[in-house]
Formats: sequence, C-alpha cells, structure tokens
Amino acid sequence: MTSLRLLLWIVFGITLQLGTFLGVAFWRHWREFSALKSGLVAADGATAWNGPLVVQQPGHESWVGFRPFRVVRKVIEDQAESIRSFYLEPEDGQPLPSFKPGQFLTFRLEVPAATGGLEPIVRCYSLSDAPTPDYYRISIKRVPAPPASSWPPGRSSTYLHDHIEVGDLLQVRAPAGHFYLDRSDAPVVLVAGGIGITPLLSMLNWSLAEQPGREIWLFYGVRNSRELIMKAHLEALATAHPNFHLRLCFSQPLPDDQLSRDYQHQGRMDIPLFRQELRLRPYHFYVCGPTPLMETLIPALEDWGVPAAHIHFEAFGPASIKRQQPDALSGAETLAQETASGILVNFAKSGRQLAWQSGTANLLEFAEANGISINSGCRAGGCGSCQTRIASGAVSYRQAPDFDPEPGTCLMCVCTPKTSVTLEA
Ligand SMILES: Cc1cc2nc3c(=O)[nH]c(=O)nc-3n(C[C@H](O)[C@H](O)[C@H](O)COP(=O)(O)OP(=O)(O)OC[C@H]3O[C@@H](n4cnc5c(N)ncnc54)[C@H](O)[C@@H]3O)c2cc1C
Ligand code: FES
Repeated sequence: MTSLRLLLWIVFGITLQLGTFLGVAFWRHWREFSALKSGLVAADGATAWNGPLVVQQPGHESWVGFRPFRVVRKVIEDQAESIRSFYLEPEDGQPLPSFKPGQFLTFRLEVPAATGGLEPIVRCYSLSDAPTPDYYRISIKRVPAPPASSWPPGRSSTYLHDHIEVGDLLQVRAPAGHFYLDRSDAPVVLVAGGIGITPLLSMLNWSLAEQPGREIWLFYGVRNSRELIMKAHLEALATAHPNFHLRLCFSQPLPDDQLSRDYQHQGRMDIPLFRQELRLRPYHFYVCGPTPLMETLIPALEDWGVPAAHIHFEAFGPASIKRQQPDALSGAETLAQETASGILVNFAKSGRQLAWQSGTANLLEFAEANGISINSGCRAGGCGSCQTRIASGAVSYRQAPDFDPEPGTCLMCVCTPKTSVTLEA
C-alpha cells in the first residue's frame, strides 16, 4: 500500500467516526427538541410529566374546613423517644384524598391554657409517608422549652405526645403546601436536618415506589444515633434501590457511633460534602431543617451555582432565608426595600398608626411588638390563621407562602409592607 493510499484510509476513517458522532449528537438533540416542543422535557433535560402528580380516585376529593380524624396508631420513632408518629383515619369512614409528597396537614387543637381552661391553637405537620389510600401519617418532635428559660415547653407537640392516644379524634384541614416533589426524571438531592426529614420521607417513599429508576440522594443530618428516625427503613430502601444513595451525617456522634457502620459523614451538611459526593448533574435540591441550616445552606447552594429554580425548601417556623436569585418558581414579588423610610402601617381596628421599622421580619412581629394581638398559628405562611384584610396599600412576600391568601388579604406572618398600608386588625 502506498503512503498516499494509507493517508486516504486514515482520512476516511476519521471522517467516518466524526460523521457518526455528529449524526448521533444531532439525533439526540432532535429528540430533546421535539420533546421540548411537545412539553415533555424540562429545560434542564429532565423528562417532565403533563398529567396530575397524584391521580385522585372518584369519591376521594379533598374537603374544606376541619374534618375529624381518629388516631389509629401511635409509634415512638427514635431512641431518644422524642419523636412519635401518629397514623390517622377519617372518622366518617369516607375515602381518603391523596396528596402531593411533601405536603402538610393543619390541625386545630384545644390545649390546656396557662390561666386554666382550654385554648385553641393551630399547627401544621408534614405528612411523613407516601400517599396511601388507608391512612395519613405525621411524625412529631417534642419541643422543649429553650434552655434556662421559664417558658413552657411547646404546647402542641407536648399535648400530642402526652395527651393524644389511639382512639382520640383530631380536627384536620386537608393536605396543602407548595413544597412537594414533582414527577420527572430530574435527579434529586433531599437534605434533611433533624425533624425536617418528615416531608422528605414522603418524597423518598413516593419516588422509589412510583419512579424506581430516578436518581435520588438523602443527606440526613442529626447529632447522633439517638436522634435518627426510621433508620432500618432507610437502609432497606438503599439496599433495594441502587439509585438511592443514603448519607447519614452526625454532627456530635456518641462514643458508640461508628463511622461507616452507623453513619457516613461526621460534621455538618455543606457544599464541600455535596461537592465530594455528587456528580456533575442538574440536581434539584429539596431542603428542610432548622432555621440555622436553612439560612446558611440555601444561599450557599446559590453561591455554588445551583439555579434558584432547582432549590426547593420549607422551614418549620419563622426563618428569613434571603435568596440571591429571584424565586423563579414562586413568582413572588420582590421584597420591598427593608430600609424604606416613611412607610406607615395603619391598624384600623386597633386605631393605631405606626412607622414601619426597617429590619422587622414581618407584619405579625411588628404588630405584636407594638402590643397589637393578631391571631396566629404556624407563623410560617402555612395555616392561614393570620390572614388579614388589606383596606389599602400593598405588601410583599420573600417567597410565595404555602397557604394561598384570599384576594385583598395578606398573611401577616410572612409579609412586609411594600407601601404604606391599612390593615383591618
Ligand atoms: C409547614 C410545616 C410543617 C411542619 N411539619 C412538622 C413535622 O412534620 N414535625 C414536627 O415535629 N414539626 C413540624 N412543624 C412544626 C410544628 O408546626 C410546630 O411549630 C412545632 O411542633 C412546635 O409547636 P408547639 O406548639 O409544640 O410549640 P410552641 O408552643 O409554638 O413553642 C415553640 C417554642 O417556643 C417556646 N416558647 C413558648 N412560649 C414562648 C414565649 N412567650 N416566648 C419565647 N418562646 C416561647 C417553647 O418553649 C418552645 O420551645 C411544621 C411546621 C410547618 C410550618
Ligand atoms: S400564622 Fe400560619 S399563615 Fe400566618
């Protein structure tokens, strides 16, 4: 073979390889483009699904207001005995509506008042299992009084742990909330701090049952083995599903807690840990945990380059998470200039007009700090207890609240005034 023929063969080989590569790449892009056009693929390449997330069977519709549910099981979940699950069935025996994995229930309880008698309180608790037609499950952590304080321990959690037994009735509002896992093939990272595991357990159980091929990670942070819940269940899932990656993270392991055997990571859940564990993929992060975790991790994920639309979170109480990128999913209005001067808040029923103090977290705290009593429950935008009519002016939310306020009203626990405002309070 002459050197010219050899050269021609080499050129032919390279051209053939290049052509094949370009052909395959073009075919792949064409498929994605066609799917995008028909709405089947999200912008990051994950396959979205156009049908409803949960299929509601006829006769299983949701309800309005509070509905009595009977506690049919009560289970201690952790070695420290501070978390109990409650299994609930509707007292009327009618079918149970499904819910989106990650949503919560709202409860109205009559708890003993400090002054004697009973007082009504409203609290939200996440559904901690995948939707099933048989029961709802919630898992509640007992909240102690802050150290060295004279405050009583958490009223709702203490009451549920100590006074509510199998057979008792609880008044429950229908599942709600915007923090839920979508049906798609986008890889998912669940990050749970302590009791923040509850909505993520629902997402995990649902995802592995409904979408067994989807890549899913759970970083579950607690102080040590005494605080873990459902460890056997989680480990069984990890064994059964190679695409589910479980990482237990202990910040203060006990002397008996053994790295690798009992947990995989010592320390906090942070970006270096994710960098070390995760591959370069367009993950969606779902984060739920205590305020300090949320307030550091959400901005850190944004700094790391995770798009705002891929960061989903829920706080169980008042947390002021400042997002650097606009909240693409919630469509929330931009927060009013917190330093804005000259904003007046007029409490019409109380006959008070006050200058808004920059730096105050929300209108509820502002009212209470000025001695104006407002009905409240979750203080996190979930239950609707603090809904108040706006007579004039406008308010803004940092992110869309879980409870959808009626037009012309606001949820005082999670909004601030955008202009001078008159509230019917
Ligand atoms: C959407 C959502 C989902 C949730 N899901 C869950 C869940 O799945 N599991 C779960 O366990 N929790 C969950 N929570 C939290 C739950 O709703 C309650 O906030 C929690 O149980 C505490 O309520 P409590 O009535 O027991 O405590 P509270 O009575 O509200 O007291 C809270 C703390 O404040 C202290 N305190 C009392 N009085 C005062 C005072 N005057 N000044 C200062 N401090 C005081 C108490 O000692 C206690 O430490 C969720 C919250 C939300 C918003
Ligand atoms: S107190 Fe629950 S929404 Fe404001």
